[in-house]
Amino acid sequence: MIAIFDFGSQYSHLIARRIHEHGTVARFYPYDTTEDKLLADGIKGIIFSGGPDSIYNQEAPRPAKEIFALGLPILGICYGQQLLADYLGGKVECGDRHEYGAITVKIDDKDPLLAGLDLTEEVWMSHSDRVSLPSECRIIASSENSPCAAFHVDHLYGIQWHPEVSHTTSGDKLLNNFLTLCGCEQDLNTASMVDSLVKLIREEVGEERVIIGLSGGIDSSVATALCAKAIGEQLSAVYVDTGLMRAGESDAVEAIARKFGPRFIRIDAQERFLSRLKGIVDPEQKRHVIGEEFIRVFEGVARAEQATFLAQGTIFPDVIESGGQNQQAALIKSHHNVGALPEKMEFTGIIEPLKYMYKDEVRNLAQQLGLSRNLIDRQPFPGPGLAIRVIGEVTKERLLLLRQADSILQAEIAKTELADQLWQSFAVLLTNKSTAVKGDQRGYAYILAIRMVDSKEAMTARFSRPDWDVLARLSTKIVNELPAISRVVYDITNKPPATIEWE
Ligand code: XMP
Repeated sequence: MIAIFDFGSQYSHLIARRIHEHGTVARFYPYDTTEDKLLADGIKGIIFSGGPDSIYNQEAPRPAKEIFALGLPILGICYGQQLLADYLGGKVECGDRHEYGAITVKIDDKDPLLAGLDLTEEVWMSHSDRVSLPSECRIIASSENSPCAAFHVDHLYGIQWHPEVSHTTSGDKLLNNFLTLCGCEQDLNTASMVDSLVKLIREEVGEERVIIGLSGGIDSSVATALCAKAIGEQLSAVYVDTGLMRAGESDAVEAIARKFGPRFIRIDAQERFLSRLKGIVDPEQKRHVIGEEFIRVFEGVARAEQATFLAQGTIFPDVIESGGQNQQAALIKSHHNVGALPEKMEFTGIIEPLKYMYKDEVRNLAQQLGLSRNLIDRQPFPGPGLAIRVIGEVTKERLLLLRQADSILQAEIAKTELADQLWQSFAVLLTNKSTAVKGDQRGYAYILAIRMVDSKEAMTARFSRPDWDVLARLSTKIVNELPAISRVVYDITNKPPATIEWE
């Protein structure tokens, strides 16, 4: 396993993804982790990520000196390189020119870190500092503005550029070389991933009882299947009917869950959620209320089941966007199961076996675990459900309207090839009304937005370009069948800058 010390670069999460792609487990650790913890976890190498700080800032995050002296290979990227330079007694100065974006570097391909790379490579940099080092350090790459763009001494390797981003053409080769230097076996595949996750769950839980929040989506289903494999009878799966689900969804989830799940408990909490949401229009407040209410319902079930642990299907993008990946990351939105959790909870611990995985990796695990194709291909649906697609206050009537519009949308899409192509497709009910003319009468009713996006793992997304005829059919059907809707608009915004969900 590789430990990543995350110093807040916007690219840090990609390091873990690349390491996984090279058949090795990567885990994020706080930068003040002790060497005992790393040794106990069987870490084979460490990567220091980039970050916005300057190492000359008194408050700048720094690992303990003992970590550098452990003898484990360390790869320092950008800010991480500066930490290594500083530890070695070198200097970091502000360069006269910024290096942002694609930069050409000259490579010493005799160094094991850079073996197999071309003598000049295009790399992606995002910095303005330059590093100078004591003479025992070997400079292994340079650019026009950075005489020391990469260096190596003993088990320490520093690079000024970001090998984890796809614009760095040989970034994969470099990371692969680093894993070889660490002695990683790189034999992680989906089957061994299942085994190692099952083992981790068993170790964490011991003899305790666990409840897991099962929403019927792929993340919580995979987490449930893993926990069931790990601890069998010690597990109860809980489905909370929040009243914020799509048409027919709760019964469908129950049917699926009863087939593959362990002990299954369905809780009707519709009134409870709706009354907590009364009068709330702010999206973050909605998410917090929903996150807290989920936990309160789970606590009640846990008491009855004598469970001390709560398991969840949190995946990595939930963590990143909730700003929980490191102390420096920005909050984009509080995912109901991460950033919107209440401070005080009755549970001894939270188990999140998928916390470092992306959706496509979770889909592979689902296949390995034998989950049904329907489930694997299901579009993601957010935990706060339709509450974050009813803009403004969530009421029973507006939920019903959105549910009806969404059913029409899904039925129409199911008739087209879009059904197999889209990452997500959904309707959003706005607070604004607009004028209509229906049968010579004036109408004044709600505007409905339709969003369809293509994506690989939800961190970025492109608005889909469906056939105009599909959009025309949708619009006609929705406006004709639902008098409370006067107008349908199509969202043509990518992520970034917009997020996939509207709230
Ligand atoms: P955004 O809107 O952040 O969405 O671009 C990225 C992906 O995450 C889903 N999403 C959520 N999932 N709890 C969840 O379980 C949440 O609070 C939440 N918010 C957004 C969203 O549907 C998309 O697939």
